[in-house]
Amino acid sequence: MSDSLDLTDARKRYHFAFAPEDHDELPFYSALVTTFEDDEVALSLLASVRVEQRNPMLILAALQLAGLRGHPVLGPLYEHVRHGRLDDPRGAAERVLEVLHHTPDVVAKELWRSTQTNEPGRSAVLQAVIRDLAGDRSSINVVEVGTSAGINLCFDQFPVRPRDDGNPLTLVCDDLTPVDRSRPLPHVHQRVGVDPYPLDLGNDDDRLWLKACLWPEQRRRHDRFDAVVAARPTWPRATMLRGTAKERLGEALSLCDDGALTIVVNTWVAFYLSTDERLEYFSELARRCRDDNVAWVSIESSRIHIPGVDVDEAAHHRAASQVVVTGPDSPSRRWGWCHAHGRWLERTTES
Ligand SMILES: C[S@@+](CC[C@H](N)C(=O)[O-])C[C@H]1O[C@@H](n2cnc3c(N)ncnc32)[C@H](O)[C@@H]1O
Repeated sequence: MSDSLDLTDARKRYHFAFAPEDHDELPFYSALVTTFEDDEVALSLLASVRVEQRNPMLILAALQLAGLRGHPVLGPLYEHVRHGRLDDPRGAAERVLEVLHHTPDVVAKELWRSTQTNEPGRSAVLQAVIRDLAGDRSSINVVEVGTSAGINLCFDQFPVRPRDDGNPLTLVCDDLTPVDRSRPLPHVHQRVGVDPYPLDLGNDDDRLWLKACLWPEQRRRHDRFDAVVAARPTWPRATMLRGTAKERLGEALSLCDDGALTIVVNTWVAFYLSTDERLEYFSELARRCRDDNVAWVSIESSRIHIPGVDVDEAAHHRAASQVVVTGPDSPSRRWGWCHAHGRWLERTTES
């Protein structure tokens, strides 16, 4: 199986799967990737994935999916991890490896999937930026490119607080610079999502996959996901378009009420676009922001360069995500920085 596969590359991918602080916070996942780094079956599985999805998270999610579906060993093991009841992460990682050796197909048959983690915490950042961009407008449209299950199309449905208040839907966000969260958010006319693989929270398989993509040691994210699933039927409707940014952005914009500002959003999507598609997407949005009633919010890794916005090397070190806004009628500028899951937000003075 491994003859033509690049196992050295796969080893590096497992090795760098987590930042040092994640290793401290996630003892089970840390033990798992460390074990996989030295295991030929685990290396071969990762090396066999199509290059744009060759991400250790896909292997980890496939294993948790088997657990969620009731695998006799992985089911109880992951349940223990999700409830913080695991006292031997190394031993647990060895048991997972035994399953992988015995039945690699548990993972192999899921490798057609994509990691599509839909992180509601980003809505805390979206609320702050969208309120700012909307200014005095009482209504807007929102188009989300790379929407996954469209959870952040309902960015306005989440309470945001500086501290946990016991409500699983509450997004806890530390505003490191002042953010006025008391001003009402604009009414959203149209909510349109674009994704090559849109997921449906009402579909069992899609829902389990989204849950499998969450790290099992982060209990709060699991509780919040369950609360989102329960609340979603009561939230406003969204239109989901299946296709890539290149294929469906124009149509998504045409579905919006052109009397209102349309805000296009992409959060943690740019890495999934090919270089050509990314450049085309960025220049199309810059044009739309110049010529149409459109604004654009991009929240991506600081390694994603948006034309006109300087690179800040310091951001790489604190693993901050960059918030860039464009238009209406103004060029792209850095609005601020945030945690990748929206746990903190910092507005830069230049905006
Ligand atoms: C990491 S997920 C992020 C989902 C969501 N934006 C969030 O922040 O929670 C990336 C999403 O981008 C989508 N995607 C991948 N290639 C794409 C493309 N060419 N055009 C639009 N979306 C794409 C994936 O299917 C996936 O749902």
